[in-house]
Amino acid sequence: MAGSVADLAVGPDAERAYPTGGSAAPADAVVQAGSDGPARTASMPPVDLGGIHVPTPVILSPMAGVTNWPFRTLCEGYGPDGLYVAEMITARALVARNPKAFRLCRFAPGERVRSLQLYGVDPVIVEQAARMVVDGGMADHIDLNFGCPVPKVTRRGGGSALPWKTDLFAELLHRVVTVCKPAGIPVTAKIRVGIDHEHETYLDAGRIAEDEGCAAVTLHARTTAEYYGGHSDWSRIAELVGALDIPVFGNGDIWGADDAVEMVRRTGCAGVAIGRGCQGRPWLFTDIRNAFAGSDERVNPTLGQVAQVVLRHAAMLVEFYDGDERMAVHDLRKHIAWYLKGFPVGGSTRRQCMESESIDDVRRVLDSLDPDATLPATVVNAPRGRTRYARKVHLPYGWLDSRTTTHEQREALFGDDPMDAGY
Ligand SMILES: Cc1cc2nc3c(=O)[nH]c(=O)nc-3n(C[C@H](O)[C@H](O)[C@H](O)COP(=O)(O)O)c2cc1C
Repeated sequence: MAGSVADLAVGPDAERAYPTGGSAAPADAVVQAGSDGPARTASMPPVDLGGIHVPTPVILSPMAGVTNWPFRTLCEGYGPDGLYVAEMITARALVARNPKAFRLCRFAPGERVRSLQLYGVDPVIVEQAARMVVDGGMADHIDLNFGCPVPKVTRRGGGSALPWKTDLFAELLHRVVTVCKPAGIPVTAKIRVGIDHEHETYLDAGRIAEDEGCAAVTLHARTTAEYYGGHSDWSRIAELVGALDIPVFGNGDIWGADDAVEMVRRTGCAGVAIGRGCQGRPWLFTDIRNAFAGSDERVNPTLGQVAQVVLRHAAMLVEFYDGDERMAVHDLRKHIAWYLKGFPVGGSTRRQCMESESIDDVRRVLDSLDPDATLPATVVNAPRGRTRYARKVHLPYGWLDSRTTTHEQREALFGDDPMDAGY
């Protein structure tokens, strides 16, 4: 079925989401509808996380270096009324009032729900960070990161390594929920399947999260060892749904709207979380809304329309970096690579984008592109972003020997809780 999604691009959602007036997607970025096959639908009723009503339970999954307010604003402008989560913020950096951490806590005035994700290993530090968020009225929802697989994080017992230590995991959740609950701020946990298939943690972690008062759990259905390689195992999502009473959000390998429908159909999850699939493609959220409404309309912009979105994204990033255009353009470079993915754009033009230092540089390159080019159907929903397995899982010494922490382990870990964790 063909049709126009112009109304979505300039409708009230977009108006509300854009912080500086105007809509998230300009009229000239209006996109054509295409189709990626007959629509299969699934039911995805609204979810309530504490006092937060989520009419369309679709989450923009937190992504370090990606889901700052400019990108969230673009996604929300195209999207259903979901949750658009900020990238992980290191609790220790927040407590130390690190300016970079504070920048990551900024929201656009139009964001409906202000969702922050905190990361930390020391329960006392994460509790302090949560206390700052609550007392400062800094967010409406806190997600906790137990999914990060990067060596810098797991070798200190953080991210996806942490749920293996059930005492530490429970204490951290308990402290944060105790701070947040009286303020009406729901806490959610984002987890992986485990460290590897010999050391799976997701069922225990889900039950602990539920017992400690988390409002929902998101499961990225891979282990730390699997990193971003292969395909996530959605059967684990179904198992977790069966094991818990709180909502489970499924995450992993949603590259197109039909994948989101399929995940809900196969697993019964309450909602879905989208990471790499929307990199350079914030309009995926429109596709998902259409798919769950039973429509097979899909957004398939021309390259000229994509260029308009890039410039809009650039303008918001300049605002995000307090007018520092160079920083904004450096941040934008990776997004441009994602925006152009699959379009017929030559290597030298792509290189020029990567070397851009100013918005004028970016505009010059975009002006040289064929505005009428479209994405071939075969690449529209192709995987994007990182896709490799871990070379090796790095853990603290003796980490797998038992499911609880020793006094010595805690002493060593907490002193080493990094300021600069990242993906
Ligand atoms: C560049 C990048 C940065 C990420 N940063 C975070 C993060 O800050 N916090 C988090 O919980 N997950 C992070 N993730 C994981 C994603 O949120 C998501 O769980 C993962 O990519 C799987 O979903 P997908 O298959 O839809 O991409 C990151 C992933 C990528 C690719």
